[in-house]
Amino acid sequence: MSVDLSTRYLGLPLAHPVVASASPLTGSVDSLKRLQDAGVAAVVLPSLFEEQIEHDEMATHNLMEYGAELSPEAQGFFPELQYTTGPDKYLQLVGSAKKALSVPVIASLNGYTPGGWTSIARQLQDAGADAIELNVYFLAASVGDTSAEVESRYVELVESVTRQVSVPVAVKVAPYFSAMANMAARLAKAGASGLVLFNRFLQPDILLEELEVAPHLVLSTSDELRLALRWIAILRGRIGVSLAATGGAHTPDDVLKLLLAGADCVMIASSLLAKGPAHVGTLVRGVEAWMTEREYSSVEQMKGSLSQQSCPDPDAFERANYMKALKSYASEFA
Ligand SMILES: Cc1cc2nc3c(=O)[nH]c(=O)nc-3n(C[C@H](O)[C@H](O)[C@H](O)COP(=O)(O)O)c2cc1C
Repeated sequence: MSVDLSTRYLGLPLAHPVVASASPLTGSVDSLKRLQDAGVAAVVLPSLFEEQIEHDEMATHNLMEYGAELSPEAQGFFPELQYTTGPDKYLQLVGSAKKALSVPVIASLNGYTPGGWTSIARQLQDAGADAIELNVYFLAASVGDTSAEVESRYVELVESVTRQVSVPVAVKVAPYFSAMANMAARLAKAGASGLVLFNRFLQPDILLEELEVAPHLVLSTSDELRLALRWIAILRGRIGVSLAATGGAHTPDDVLKLLLAGADCVMIASSLLAKGPAHVGTLVRGVEAWMTEREYSSVEQMKGSLSQQSCPDPDAFERANYMKALKSYASEFA
């Protein structure tokens, strides 16, 4: 009996649940084609950042102001120039990716304020994006920021992007909310068709030799996946939007656990960067082999079968599990 690996994410049919998450590997058409040839079910392009859009708009505005002060003869030169406001290169990437690939292409916006920059979402849709992933990367570092204000800002941002487009919008967020489940429900109500759990905040490091603060990017390990696993299990069946897992999926077992918890798809970046596109095949074959052995007929049937609502011990996802884990820890020194 063959296993039906197909799944749906944001209403898009996927051949199986393994998706290439935003990373340098999804940043060129050649590399995207390699990922498709390796069997990936969909791709998320690297993010276009709010700062990039605003910077471009500001640069053009300054140039126009400068032009207005020049003599009419001098202004005659200006039509020769291409005033490319906005992220033209990114739009080109979306267009050429869409032409070159048959798998869904998800464009990614990364920002933190609900400003005019969000109108770019419409252009991404027009360039052919099948969906948009909105990565909200905001660190509430001001002591004046209240959680209520920060949460409203997320909601406004999601509303301001979803208003622009008819394609589905997934929101990629970090897990640092006091009330994650409520926030997830509010994001869904604001128009999100899916959530991508979770954004990894890259924590800066201190370099002792140089006495400098520096960014520190390390690839994930499988240990990280349990954060998404817990929240996907809790949210599955409760908010009625697609759920994608990102963070720490490296092996077929990792993918299976996230599907059992309730993920509609599993996004991978670190494992692709470390092992190359062929790793997609290893994951998909591994998932299929396990499901065959356990006599699951389809991913749809298996998805969420160990979510909090479906599993025999729902407390395991909450505080009870924490107490049990602490009490049962054994060390030769304790
Ligand atoms: C080098 C690198 C670049 C990334 N660029 C982006 C990006 O542009 N936008 C985004 O939303 N996530 C970006 N990510 C995050 C990944 O998409 C993914 O969510 C994260 O790495 C966790 O998944 P993983 O454990 O499979 O790596 C990047 C990750 C890495 C390692």
